Amino acid sequence: MNSFDWVSGQGQPLHGSVRIPGDKSISHRSLMLSALADGTSRIRGFLEGEDTRATAAVLSQLGVKIETPADGERLVHGVGLHGLRAAAEPLDCGNAGTGMRLLAGLLAGQAFDSTLIGDASLSKRPMRRVTDPLGQMGARIDTQEGLPPLHIHGVQPLHGIRYALPVASAQVKSALLLAGLYAAGSTEIIEPHPTRDYTERMLAAFGWPITFSPGSAKLDGGHALRATDVDVPADFSSAAFFLVAASIVPGSELRLPAVGLNPRRTGLLQALRLMGADIQVENPRESGGEPVGDLLVRHAPLHGIELPEALVPDMIDEFPILFIAAAVASGRTVVRGAAELRVKESDRLASMATGLRALGARIEETPDGAIIDGGALGGGEVQTHMDHRIAMSFTVAGLVATAPVRVRDCSHVATSFPGYRELANACGFAIASV
Ligand code: S3P
Repeated sequence: MNSFDWVSGQGQPLHGSVRIPGDKSISHRSLMLSALADGTSRIRGFLEGEDTRATAAVLSQLGVKIETPADGERLVHGVGLHGLRAAAEPLDCGNAGTGMRLLAGLLAGQAFDSTLIGDASLSKRPMRRVTDPLGQMGARIDTQEGLPPLHIHGVQPLHGIRYALPVASAQVKSALLLAGLYAAGSTEIIEPHPTRDYTERMLAAFGWPITFSPGSAKLDGGHALRATDVDVPADFSSAAFFLVAASIVPGSELRLPAVGLNPRRTGLLQALRLMGADIQVENPRESGGEPVGDLLVRHAPLHGIELPEALVPDMIDEFPILFIAAAVASGRTVVRGAAELRVKESDRLASMATGLRALGARIEETPDGAIIDGGALGGGEVQTHMDHRIAMSFTVAGLVATAPVRVRDCSHVATSFPGYRELANACGFAIASV
């Protein structure tokens, strides 16, 4: 028996209100900035996922006291900008690219050495995109030919740079901004396309002077962070599975309360609407400096689209589930300009093309995207390649496939969405653990 395989079958029309767990990107950042602040910060809505818990464990190893007064809550006793101390052991980031890349920036300007390690999936992910520009700031980081582990030599001080990112990446931008806290002079980042700006917004909320606008950010070293409380909204990327599921299962109507709607994250909302989806935003409001709203999604027939390339960075984590929507929509969907998908938790273009083909879909993989001709999906067996979003996407496919879909090794779902199976089943999915 392998308890990590799931079988997803046709369930009921989806109904009810689904409480999506906290945003992964914001949870990582809230821990890091709280740790470096003067004073104690309370984080509410914290994602109890393996990725974010790994970041908390790393910060504890670096001498930060973090309490868990309740599930989804953390009390972080900040040690101040220069209060971290060397860890005796390597720092394990688990499956988390965000954890490793942001911590690389944060640790590059410390007075001590650190080693960052990760699991088999993270150990295959490219790190030169952070270590090269950090090197330009004076950091000294050894990689295994561009891959983890990262051995970071303590260097003080770093110096600020003006850096034009070759690829749109919030992780790289954030790593450089965190290193910039420890740098002499200004650190300025220019992006080829605006990416999520959580680090910038949160630095400002913690009292660090920073200027930013879509596509650029600039700060000076040598200030201090003041403890502040953080309210983490529900993660749009986790909500995405339910948005597609309710759209494709006839008779469905789901409500997803208090979902983060930062415009740099909601490209899928636009893409699904272009495909004919019926999704409404109710009670739009601000919470913790972020736009949030309640999402109401009803079943609607979807049709294929040529995805506007400009939407790609704003939905970079949502392609696996978009591909499921496209595979059951009428007509053809074409995705271009998404080569970054090849260096996520798995090569998502390959993982999705192979999995969808195993279910009888017509999909052609291209170097930077895919061409998908929608139709019916059959049952079958698919691999997740240690990728949480591939796993959850294929459970959604199971809802409309003509026979059950066996999803091999769903253990990584817990990295970003603890309790996914139970939550999904409560609103009408039929996912069994086998
Ligand atoms: C993230 C940025 C994105 C995204 C990842 C989280 C972040 O990665 O895919 O899941 O929190 O900054 P890239 O910066 O590699 O695009």
